[in-house]
Amino acid sequence: MKPRITPTQQEIALSDDDIIVSKTDLTGRITYANRAFMRIANFSERDLMNQQHNIVRHPDMPRGAFKLLWDTLKAEREFFAYVKNMTSEGHYYWVFANITPDRDHNGKVVGYFSVRRKPQKAALQVIAPLYQEMLEVERRAGPASAPDASLRFVQDKLKSLGTTYDRFILGL
Ligand SMILES: Cc1cc2nc3c(=O)[nH]c(=O)nc-3n(C[C@H](O)[C@H](O)[C@H](O)COP(=O)(O)O)c2cc1C
Repeated sequence: MKPRITPTQQEIALSDDDIIVSKTDLTGRITYANRAFMRIANFSERDLMNQQHNIVRHPDMPRGAFKLLWDTLKAEREFFAYVKNMTSEGHYYWVFANITPDRDHNGKVVGYFSVRRKPQKAALQVIAPLYQEMLEVERRAGPASAPDASLRFVQDKLKSLGTTYDRFILGL
């Protein structure tokens, strides 16, 4: 069970050389966490192992972002995103994440791998307001259709800008 944590307004900033790594099974359950992950999110290895990765989910993240993550991974493609995460105390930390399918020696996808670094401040000035807009779209849509509604909102927006999600994210 995910413990209830109240978000604070305190930011935990990553250093330029911090790299947060985790691995999950096919359902998003954590099977590996590196030291930087434990230190920054302030969880022990025992707290993290076999827990769903939403253990660090921050309520400021729109559900549509995770829908796109899972749609992309199910299509066996890698995914890039700026993610606001929450520590065990409710503090927040932003990362730029790359999530890829983890394959066995036969090429079969057996889980997923995520590597995260400190994001550029300028990118967050674009992403944070976009996520707020997505959350607003989700509130208006209601719980059942929230992820689809906010994802459609972003995809329409990117289309009108003549770009794709990957080009937009990697160009920030
Ligand atoms: C390899 C991998 C890494 C993930 N990393 C994060 C993460 O850092 N933060 C996060 O909120 N969700 C992460 N997720 C997504 C979660 O599994 C989950 O979909 C998300 O937190 C939404 O949770 P919810 O459906 O309970 O709202 C990751 C998933 C995978 C497969």
